[in-house]
Amino acid sequence: MITQVIDIGYLIAVVLFVLGIKNMSHPDTARKGNLLAASGMGLAMLATFFTPGLQNIAIILVAILLGSIIGYYMSRKVAMTAMPQMVSFFNGMGGAAAALIAIAEVYGIFHSPEAQLTFMTNTSTAYFYFGALLVSLVIGAVSFSGSIIAMGKLQGFVSGASVKWPMQKVSNNGLLVVIAFLCVWLFQMDSGQEPLIYLICLLGLVFGVLFVMPIGGADMPVVISLLNAFTGVTAATTGMLFDNKVMLMGGVLVGAAGLLLTLLMCKAMNRSLSAVLFGAFNSGSGAASDRDIDTTVREISLSDASILLSYAKKVVIIPGYGLAVAQAQHVVHELEKLLEDKGVEVKYGIHPVAGRMPGHMNVLLAESDVPYDKLIEMEAINPEFPQVDAVVVIGANDVVNPAAYLDPASPIYGMPILEADKAQNIIVIKRSMSAGYAGIDNELFYNQKTRMLFGDAKGVLTKLVAAVKEM
Ligand code: TAP
Repeated sequence: MITQVIDIGYLIAVVLFVLGIKNMSHPDTARKGNLLAASGMGLAMLATFFTPGLQNIAIILVAILLGSIIGYYMSRKVAMTAMPQMVSFFNGMGGAAAALIAIAEVYGIFHSPEAQLTFMTNTSTAYFYFGALLVSLVIGAVSFSGSIIAMGKLQGFVSGASVKWPMQKVSNNGLLVVIAFLCVWLFQMDSGQEPLIYLICLLGLVFGVLFVMPIGGADMPVVISLLNAFTGVTAATTGMLFDNKVMLMGGVLVGAAGLLLTLLMCKAMNRSLSAVLFGAFNSGSGAASDRDIDTTVREISLSDASILLSYAKKVVIIPGYGLAVAQAQHVVHELEKLLEDKGVEVKYGIHPVAGRMPGHMNVLLAESDVPYDKLIEMEAINPEFPQVDAVVVIGANDVVNPAAYLDPASPIYGMPILEADKAQNIIVIKRSMSAGYAGIDNELFYNQKTRMLFGDAKGVLTKLVAAVKEM
């Protein structure tokens, strides 16, 4: 009876996870989705307390209390731009938990004559169980150390640059072969082999470091999402081992969601996963660009920009990474409201990989209470640009680079972009002519319709707001 109650609790928890993920797919319902998924996790934890013969309840309660306090504190303190590293840290903890559970289990098998006997009789179930444990151990260890390095790269305590060494792929693949060989060897179940478990765990940790070090800091969101998928796999295998349905389903959901997100990010950047993992930007056609571009840069004064915007009928703001760096989300919302008071229609054009994490611009603008219905996705806003009087590009670069569809030799050729170049007038706010994440020049800045407004996004927007107010 009690196990049925637990199973029903787990089933409801799984349904809450699915509903949570579904709701998180839209900004309007994302908060509700988060709450649903969190209640699912709470319910799963509660149901687990009814497990017959559960021991160490006091230790479990203390661990839950400590984890809750730390989690609450971190979620309150974390800056929006530091969210990817926090996700990476939490993900690393998931990997570490899976690896530790696997070590405890393998240790138990080596120290239990009964368990060893089962293996000696070669039952396929026992081999399956042991194999799944080793998968949890290795992937958990890789996920832990990889996530901590990814976090370090984003936080700045590990070099954010792509670190490479000779024969990098060969050495990484070689290490994987050694780990696989040791795992197979362990199947002999000789109690003298016990140190091998720790060696395998150590090599998994080393592999995680070697796997992430060559990847450039700005590619970390993609890698974090992939490591998240790895942790999902370890949770699923651990769930299988303990016949724990909620852990199995939760792991499958995390694994699938992490993998899909990884692939979606790669697609939105028009880069293959291997290009991300092996640290190379798209190489384009390889042909030298023979396009002759007039590189005259035209600037606009604050007063001219305020006149242009105030008398426009339709304005589209395109936010990018620089808006997040400058923390200019509040002042951009102020500009939007001012223009609307003057009868201007204002929308935001949102590129799926603008910024440095999925949904970065949505989260940033939500922070300053920009209504969700003003955030228009790339596919929906692109046809509108020819009718837009003025586009204001704020700290965005690659996501508006027309080379993506004009220049087959460009490294970003084929990446879908916000077609700001089709608007009647273009104002670009950034500090200099420096390149963005892809490290390439942007011909939008030399377009005859473009006027540059140089400076830190927050400073420039604050002055622009003052100029619009004076009109
Ligand atoms: P970027 O192409 O990186 O350009 C950002 C621009 O912001 C820079 O050119 C920089 O120019 C400017 N900037 C920086 N600080 C500023 C400040 N304080 N005030 C004003 N401007 C500032 O950004 P994007 O257009 O958002 O594109 C995102 C890029 O990241 C894409 O290439 C995408 O593939 C990549 N990426 C995205 C993700 C996700 S999931 N979003 C993940 C990995 C990679 P100045 O230095 O001249 O100011």
